[in-house]
Amino acid sequence: MEKKNIKWDELGFGYMPTDYRYCAEWKDGKWGEGKLTTEATVTISECAGVLQYSQTGFEGLKAYTWKDGSIVTFRPDLNAQRLQSTARRLLMPEVSTQMFLEALDETVKANAAWVPPYGTGATLYIRPFLFGSGPILGVAPAPEYQFRLFCSPVGPYFKGGIKPIRICVSDFDRAAPHGTGDIKAGLNYAMSLHPSDIAHKNGYSENMFLDAATRTYVEETGGANFLFVTKDGRLVTPKSPTILPSITRRSLVYVAEKYLGLTVEERPVPFAEVKEFAEVGVCGTAAVISPVGEIDSHDEKIMVPSGLESFGPVLGKLRETLTGIQNGDIEAPEGWIRKIC
Ligand code: PLP
Ligand code: COI
Repeated sequence: MEKKNIKWDELGFGYMPTDYRYCAEWKDGKWGEGKLTTEATVTISECAGVLQYSQTGFEGLKAYTWKDGSIVTFRPDLNAQRLQSTARRLLMPEVSTQMFLEALDETVKANAAWVPPYGTGATLYIRPFLFGSGPILGVAPAPEYQFRLFCSPVGPYFKGGIKPIRICVSDFDRAAPHGTGDIKAGLNYAMSLHPSDIAHKNGYSENMFLDAATRTYVEETGGANFLFVTKDGRLVTPKSPTILPSITRRSLVYVAEKYLGLTVEERPVPFAEVKEFAEVGVCGTAAVISPVGEIDSHDEKIMVPSGLESFGPVLGKLRETLTGIQNGDIEAPEGWIRKIC
């Protein structure tokens, strides 16, 4: 199959509509049959639950072309499960794992020419999303829903590729205790726009959010979990009920222990400890692992020992191993790879 004529290695992280997307509608208490469409716009009621009360959640995952030309996705069953937990919390109908995976297979297969070729560093980003499409005026769940999935070929999430980023501690909170921080609700991202605009205007790529209750523990950024490496080579990653359970982070914990023999600590991480670490990074589907070179708060400027030029050795090795698994160059643990075609 011939790939599209795109300068794959020049792609950033942006929306480039592909040929097909998937849409299923929930009405009268059940899901209708989903189908592929070439229509990239959505027409819904002006009073839709998503437009009035932000009743929406989404997912993000990627498809990869392997050396032999096959196309695969990485742990999509976990994205299906996380969308189910988002749906439960926002009173939306759940999309079963089977329906999610069938929609994914169909959409990626139909857009195979858009999955960047092996070795380009680019990937096909897939965005499944679920929203209240029916009209609702009083605050209540919408009477109708849509589950959709579109794709876009993407390059690195942060400008400059995998050069270390500078981040700042936000004066705003991302997630309230017992709030929605652990689900992928659109509202979590709407409220992060203002803090991230401030960070960008001050020259930072991202915010580091602290826990809202005490403002003493590290939570995550607006779109990725944190990874830290101690001076004696242990991997530390924050554990908190108010951060998004990143599939990348959960995979890296396994890779660190089982592939690289590292000791891993998943635990609350006091901000006061950050200056002690040798390496800092953020991880997520879009970010993969991006190194962090500097963390600034009002009181201090923390220069991470691994510097502003390149990856530290441990996070570099972790990134290489994870991307090796995703690109088919390193054998994956059982069940991690879903071959599409
Ligand atoms: N944290 C937030 C707030 C995110 O939006 C994302 C992206 O999905 C992540 C973490 C990383 O999660 P994952 O590795 O599942 O993409
Ligand atoms: C992802 O990594 O898939 C995300 O959804 C993060 C988003 C902020 C782009």
